[in-house]
Amino acid sequence: LSFLDYNAGWPLWPEVVELLARAHAEPLANPASLHQRGQAARARLEAAREKVADLLGCARGDVLFTSSGSEANALALKGTFLARSNPSKRGIVSSRMEHPSVLFALEQLKRHGAELTLLAPSPEGYHPAGQLNEALTEDIALCSLAFANNETGALQPVGELARTCNRRGIGFHCDAVQAAGLLPVRLGEIPADLLSLSGHKLGGPVGVGVLVARRGQPLEALVPGHQEGGRRGGTADVVGAEAFALALAICRQRQEKEAPRLAGLRDLLETEVQRRLPGVQVNGVGPRLPNTSNLAFEGVDGQALLIALDLKGLQVSHGAACASGSPKPSHVLTAMGQSDDAARSALRFSLGFLTTTADVEATVQALVEAVLQARRTLS
Ligand SMILES: Cc1ncc(COP(=O)(O)O)c(C=O)c1O
Repeated sequence: LSFLDYNAGWPLWPEVVELLARAHAEPLANPASLHQRGQAARARLEAAREKVADLLGCARGDVLFTSSGSEANALALKGTFLARSNPSKRGIVSSRMEHPSVLFALEQLKRHGAELTLLAPSPEGYHPAGQLNEALTEDIALCSLAFANNETGALQPVGELARTCNRRGIGFHCDAVQAAGLLPVRLGEIPADLLSLSGHKLGGPVGVGVLVARRGQPLEALVPGHQEGGRRGGTADVVGAEAFALALAICRQRQEKEAPRLAGLRDLLETEVQRRLPGVQVNGVGPRLPNTSNLAFEGVDGQALLIALDLKGLQVSHGAACASGSPKPSHVLTAMGQSDDAARSALRFSLGFLTTTADVEATVQALVEAVLQARRTLS
């Protein structure tokens, strides 16, 4: 029936499939090799880097290729903390709603002396700049806040948050993994010192991420080596970098038309579901990604509903994909002040470039049937 789980990973753009098939059919040398074939691979890697830098509005040397968004986040947080010039500054400010890849990295740093301040969001899932400003004391070394939340789609005012840190001389990391496929992420508007992206969240391959680390940003490599300017060791994935650059370029080309199209479909989903079912609440109303809808179904267990929908051929998500199988309620929704039961009753619907009106209509039908069935079983 329909795949409405784009926030867990997009299908590849057809142009990216072609690029991968073509590029993997040709022999490719190590881009660090001195011979001509090595240098040709190097030129291709640098061309991909240049393309990503142009799209993001930063210098070519600021773009580091990684293996994932998680690695980009870990390198940003741990690399900056390890390289800080003033060891007495141990504070890191972030949010209770961050992606687990950020929260796990922060927990590791805490075991190595970092002092964490995890801000609680508003009930709608937002962090105003004033709240951040108050948390920025003298001992803060770094701040990390995501552009778009992966579960609710809530968009933080990251431009303002970055400028708040800039004014205080504190480094700002932005996890833009969920935003970059749908919104024009540019460092001119978001003056972040560090910014993370992930290939498979924008129609590129899984296994490629990008960390933008602005010039002068102290960063200790997690994997030491001479590649990526000494900031990330390991032989570079030239084809992955090219595929990433192409996917980001395609997203950028299509965003202007695609974002309102998806917002229209998302709104159709929400209005129709709420018209046909009582007790449905939208989590995170306010500025949000055009493709994401987080809906709570009163009295229903989200995990059971997910399975019922899966059996009808509809794929959605309950909390973050990475946490599936875990019986815990979503840490994002509980951070927004929801009870465990309310958080357990929610599902995430995330739409994408292959989603059509017919998909949404079929989803509404399947959902209405499954929720009514679940509620009948309970009563
Ligand atoms: C906001 C956010 N950050 C980081 C990641 C991790 O990206 P990757 O799957 O490339 O490690 C995800 C993936 O779900 C995400 O949604």
